[in-house]
Amino acid sequence: MSDARVAVVTGANRGIGLAIAHGLTQQGLRVAVAARHLDDATAAAADIGGAAFPVQLDVTDAASVTSAVQRVLDVAGGLHVVVNNAGGHYDDGADARTLTDDDLTDAFEVNTIGPMRVIRAAVPHLLAQGWGRIVNVSSRSGTFSATWGTAPAYGVSKAALNMLTLQLAKDLDGTGVLVNACCPGWVRTRMGGDDAERSVEEGADTPIWLATLPDAGPSGLLFGDRSVIDW
Ligand SMILES: NC(=O)c1ccc[n+]([C@@H]2O[C@H](COP(=O)([O-])OP(=O)(O)OC[C@H]3O[C@@H](n4cnc5c(N)ncnc54)[C@H](OP(=O)(O)O)[C@@H]3O)[C@@H](O)[C@H]2O)c1
Repeated sequence: MSDARVAVVTGANRGIGLAIAHGLTQQGLRVAVAARHLDDATAAAADIGGAAFPVQLDVTDAASVTSAVQRVLDVAGGLHVVVNNAGGHYDDGADARTLTDDDLTDAFEVNTIGPMRVIRAAVPHLLAQGWGRIVNVSSRSGTFSATWGTAPAYGVSKAALNMLTLQLAKDLDGTGVLVNACCPGWVRTRMGGDDAERSVEEGADTPIWLATLPDAGPSGLLFGDRSVIDW
């Protein structure tokens, strides 16, 4: 077994997550390519090659998250980096006046509670080694400073993810575990659409940078293009 650091990237079978997983292997990490369907994880890990291995992980299913983290430990012997990339329920064009309980619940399940499930399962292992990096892939639409306000359930759930990032960073201060959020920008994926301005590699740049921060790196901040964005 190599002593390379080990990362898990959720929603890594396509889009920005696949590019993050690929980029982290290029930085020398072993990467658990996590996807809710094992076949998709297996195909993506094979695409990336060498240091990537597949893991089934549905962020809305607590048992799946726990098993996935255990699988990473079994396969790679450790876990150092968590990239909460999986996201969904982009309700672009919805009207906040008519949001249903289901809209909000679905958005929170995948964008807020899902990342928290992964963090809860992973943090004891990061703390045990006194080193870790947690990256929550969020969105400007979840900021008070720069939201464009067209995807209300999604925006509210990402705002909650931002606050979760800040809270966790405070609770993990001094432990060696750095926690940050980022916005990848508007990226050409199934979520972002074909007209988006950025490639997946461009969208993956800041998450990869945050996942590999040096020990004196920041914690408890939101980034875009490697620069701080106001919450
Ligand atoms: N694209 C943009 O312009 C943009 C802008 C700002 C922020 N973001 C954020 O960037 C992240 C990646 O987005 P993307 O553009 O790459 O989207 P995408 O192409 O739609 O990919 C979303 C990924 O999340 C996975 N996923 C959804 N629900 C899941 C669940 N319950 N458990 C595990 N995985 C799940 C999907 O898996 P399946 O293939 O199984 O569906 C897929 O791998 C998201 O957090 C998104 O909110 C994107």
